[in-house]
Amino acid sequence: MAEVIWGLATSHVPSIGAAMDREKTQDDNWKPLFDGYQPAREWLAEHKPDVAIVIYNDHANGIDLDIVPTFGIGTAERYPVADEGFGQRPVPEVVGHPELSLHLLENLVDDGFDLTVFQELEVDHGLTVPLSVWTPEPGDAWPCPVVPLLVNVIQYPQPTAARCYALGKALGRAIRNFPEDITVGVLGTGGMSHQLAGARAGFINSDFDRRFLAEIQSDPAKLAALSREDYVRLAGSEGIEMIMWLIMRGALDDDITRVHDTYFVAASNTAAALALFENKADSRALQPA
Ligand code: DHB
Ligand code: FE
Repeated sequence: MAEVIWGLATSHVPSIGAAMDREKTQDDNWKPLFDGYQPAREWLAEHKPDVAIVIYNDHANGIDLDIVPTFGIGTAERYPVADEGFGQRPVPEVVGHPELSLHLLENLVDDGFDLTVFQELEVDHGLTVPLSVWTPEPGDAWPCPVVPLLVNVIQYPQPTAARCYALGKALGRAIRNFPEDITVGVLGTGGMSHQLAGARAGFINSDFDRRFLAEIQSDPAKLAALSREDYVRLAGSEGIEMIMWLIMRGALDDDITRVHDTYFVAASNTAAALALFENKADSRALQPA
């Protein structure tokens, strides 16, 4: 039986990756953000899972905008790093875990979540920046194989927050059903409040972000009850990415421990945050398989 050992929520702002790639993390404007990551990075270095599931959205880099699946899963052996217009990021290729991908696919379809299957996929900043936030110096390889789980948060109608939370619960059940004794880390990516274009470009709502950071642990059902329009109004047209954190949250136990969090305004035009949760061993023993 596989077990989820932690959940990591993090923004995936491309300039965070660029700051790392160009060795600017100690510059005055970036240092506070990267200093804020440090305790989480140290804890994660000591809690390496066998596989990570990264819940993310593509930004029209790996997937054309003419076909936008609501939910999808990668089943490949490897996921090349996409060239987003400035060349590939100088980071390792992402190695997949096809056995876990196919197990999750089958279980989630049986559970009513009809995922689109990506047998080939190039991964953009939505996936690689969270891996860099977790592991700043990966060397030749990321810490473990990755299963990408994709969500449409860029084109109307995005899935509801409630549907995302329900998918997360089904994902947790599917992980626990995997017959091998492996440990799994789940990453929920995107956010926090931001709007990149239009009349409200530059919009940031720290009050909502702080509430979301607290309630993602204590009352995720309340966040899942907010409508798509609530997210766009409260967090901005791209801030709706935060619904992906609810998938991560759903895969964890009801009772989780906050290891660390940090909140920073602004990376690019975006409120950026990280929140790291340990799944509780005691309550895990009580979960049905
Ligand atoms: C930017 C892009 C993103 O995908 C995001 O989530 C936040 C910011 C940007 O281009 O600045
Ligand atoms: Fe994004």
